[in-house]
Amino acid sequence: MPVEARPTTPAELRNVKFKSGVRGYGAQEVEAMLLSAASAIEHLLRDPAGANAQARANIRDLRNAELPDVFRGLNRDDVNEMCERAAATIQRLLANEAQLEKARPADPKPVVTSEPAVAPEPVAPVAAVRVARPLIGSGTEGLGAVASRQSVRVALGARTYHVAVGNDPTGEAVSVLQTYGARKAVVVTQPSIRATAQQYCDALNAHNIETVVVEIADGEAAKTLVTVDDLCRQLAKFGILRRDAVLAVGGGVVGDITGFTASVYYRGIAVVQVPTTLLAMVDAAIGGKTAANLPQGKNLVGAFHQPLAVLCDPCVLASLSDREFRCGLGEVLKYALMGDDQLLGIIADESAALLAREPDVLRRAIIRSAAVKARFVSADELERTGLREHLNYGHTLAHAIETAGDHVLAHGEAVAVGLVFAGALASALERVTPEIAEQHRALALSLGLPVSVPEGLRRSELIEIMRRDKKSVGGLRFVLQGPNGLERVDDPSQLALDVALNAVGVTN
Ligand SMILES: NC(=O)c1ccc[n+]([C@@H]2O[C@H](COP(=O)([O-])OP(=O)(O)OC[C@H]3O[C@@H](n4cnc5c(N)ncnc54)[C@H](O)[C@@H]3O)[C@@H](O)[C@H]2O)c1
Repeated sequence: MPVEARPTTPAELRNVKFKSGVRGYGAQEVEAMLLSAASAIEHLLRDPAGANAQARANIRDLRNAELPDVFRGLNRDDVNEMCERAAATIQRLLANEAQLEKARPADPKPVVTSEPAVAPEPVAPVAAVRVARPLIGSGTEGLGAVASRQSVRVALGARTYHVAVGNDPTGEAVSVLQTYGARKAVVVTQPSIRATAQQYCDALNAHNIETVVVEIADGEAAKTLVTVDDLCRQLAKFGILRRDAVLAVGGGVVGDITGFTASVYYRGIAVVQVPTTLLAMVDAAIGGKTAANLPQGKNLVGAFHQPLAVLCDPCVLASLSDREFRCGLGEVLKYALMGDDQLLGIIADESAALLAREPDVLRRAIIRSAAVKARFVSADELERTGLREHLNYGHTLAHAIETAGDHVLAHGEAVAVGLVFAGALASALERVTPEIAEQHRALALSLGLPVSVPEGLRRSELIEIMRRDKKSVGGLRFVLQGPNGLERVDDPSQLALDVALNAVGVTN
């Protein structure tokens, strides 16, 4: 069937209708390529200086596409021509800035295909101070089905995917893997989450996707290259091929090590992240960072490997320990204080429901957190421009507390103290008002998070560790709020540092 109007503009490329039912090898790739072409063209129209390697790679991919005779109901020649035209459009845009200026639409807007929008946009400074409710309590009662599904789009051209939060994640997993065309999947998990992992296997098996569960040990100690080696062998033993997939059902440890295994097995196969801790839902599973530890350091080996999808079910958080749950809240608080008004509102007005793990409020908090993370990942996928560094808000002091305190505070708890410190430092530097600093403290307290450095940690030791932080080059480097939102601040004054350290209980 001929393509009636052969598309060349981004909007037309995105709207190509492929007929279902006729599938051939390469269909998925070509769809992704066309989306990627649309993104590349949009990007070039928006930002002429962004003539980048990715756009050039798109041209090559579009021209080298191997298509079946009938491609989802479209004639191969027509799709070939479509690819050729998209490639030519990108090439023309790259070659000719003058033409680019002419072709630029009057009011270019990022393309958004799902709710809520997560296309790159400036992060607003922290808005009006809200008064947080006092801590009421925590518990796990009242966890029922989540009312509705919502998703956040992580916009990354051909690697674009969704973070879905809702009540049918197993159905979603089936749909994602069917669309991808996987025949088999290995489900990697840990003993404490075995039952959840089995639900995914059952759903996939029922749709003729063969599965096997592989369990890894609990804790950081399992995040090693030995585990990667073992997982690769299990994948090979089960006959996983290039077009099959792995599912990571667990917290950040399972997600990181499974993602890394997927990045190297067959030089890269698909991974679906099914995070089961709050921290993994709002942070670890999104953004494609995967890793293994070495004796010399945490996360020293790794790769960027984006998932096919991230599927979150807030109901599974019912079985998470209070402390693990609180650690996730530390990261949720970070996203709120990074400038997400809706999330600030949820924490200020609904902290009790959040602590009681009510599914609806959890769903909204996860969606908003994922949207903030997605925005930064989309804008700086490979941590090249420094933007993704903003996701480390509150983390400079947090890492020092974890190191100096020998992990007395868990990561999310240390992040909460780091956020209170960051608020106080920004206030001491007159970048924000004292009320904003107080807001950082009040919201942390409302979530039952610590706001002080553990006793016995000395100022000199914390500063020394912060100087060695991988983000700073000998000096002290922070991400702080200010009149223009989050910004990097190097080497603040001793006086401001002392005021801020004092605010989190460090006096010596
Ligand atoms: N890739 C990234 O961008 C990124 C970001 C942040 C953290 N991380 C990594 O994530 C890891 C920490 O992740 P984490 O905090 O999820 O810890 P974790 O994966 O160790 O999980 C914590 C504990 O909770 C258990 N668990 C998981 N889900 C459960 C559930 N629903 N019910 C009951 N128990 C459950 C786990 O078995 C484990 O014992 C670290 O290795 C860190 O480096 C990665």
